[in-house]
Amino acid sequence: MILDGKKISEERLSLLREEIARSGLQPKLATVIVGDDPASRLYVRMKQQACERVGIASVSVELPVDCAVGSLLARINDLNRDTSIDGILVQLPLPAQIRPEMVTSAIAPEKDVDGFNPLNLGKLLSGNPLFVPCTPMGIMTLLHTYGIRTEGAEAVVIGRSIEVGRPCAVMLLNAHATVTICHSRTSNLKSHIKRADIVISAAGKARFINADMIRKGATIIDVGINYEDGKLCGDVDFEGVQQKAGAITPVPGGVGPMTIVSLMENTFRAARMRR
Ligand SMILES: NC(=O)c1ccc[n+]([C@@H]2O[C@H](COP(=O)([O-])OP(=O)(O)OC[C@H]3O[C@@H](n4cnc5c(N)ncnc54)[C@H](OP(=O)(O)O)[C@@H]3O)[C@@H](O)[C@H]2O)c1
Repeated sequence: MILDGKKISEERLSLLREEIARSGLQPKLATVIVGDDPASRLYVRMKQQACERVGIASVSVELPVDCAVGSLLARINDLNRDTSIDGILVQLPLPAQIRPEMVTSAIAPEKDVDGFNPLNLGKLLSGNPLFVPCTPMGIMTLLHTYGIRTEGAEAVVIGRSIEVGRPCAVMLLNAHATVTICHSRTSNLKSHIKRADIVISAAGKARFINADMIRKGATIIDVGINYEDGKLCGDVDFEGVQQKAGAITPVPGGVGPMTIVSLMENTFRAARMRR
């Protein structure tokens, strides 16, 4: 089974558009971008296009790559205070002089639609989430939509970043899976992957999971965005693994579109909560 993130996200965007229109609200998302990294610009543009599709207004704040931390924090503070703004997203990664934790901590928790503020991460950890990070949220929606059972399942998450691996592991735990988190120092990674009912790969290593490594019938979620000979590919050798897996996400068209729809859903939720 192909877990078609593109199709599911299209369906959810259409539903969200109707829901927003019915609500009479005009949600508004502020995107903040520091520097001119082409990938970051592309992601922000895709998010703004999704906003347009569902009826969320968006404003863009653009700061130079050598921007001082203080200036960025001051802009975030303005957005926190601006009552017309429901959600704030600061596109990561940030230039080296800016520590991401300082920035994520500065975003008001009730406008933190990316879910990276330590308070929101803590709420997730305590099993009482408010806003959760969009990529793991999209993954959980995909699993749920396709009826993939998490309760009692062995889940292996590869990667322990704040953006993907850690929150994903906690969300699977909250959904009653038995979770193992693997990372670059994990010894015998293969043995962990082999016993998993659900594998979430967020390592960012092109095609490093092959068919020999997985259990027959496993669900494989490929978060990786890598380029090989200029071509986009995931962490998973899709052609080989799809013959053995029970369900698998493609790259592109799997987790990526689910991340964007989750951001839209969080922004509408923020708007409803504030009003
Ligand atoms: N589709 C989407 O919407 C979406 C969203 C976000 C990210 N991504 C993609 O997902 C990937 C991960 O993103 P990220 O932000 O989490 O990256 P990251 O911060 O670089 O984290 C990568 C993680 O993978 C682990 N790792 C690296 N090589 C490994 C190996 N050989 N074996 C086991 N673990 C290994 C690292 O371990 P250590 O901690 O020990 O270094 C780290 O925890 C990237 O390709 C990124 O582009 C996609």
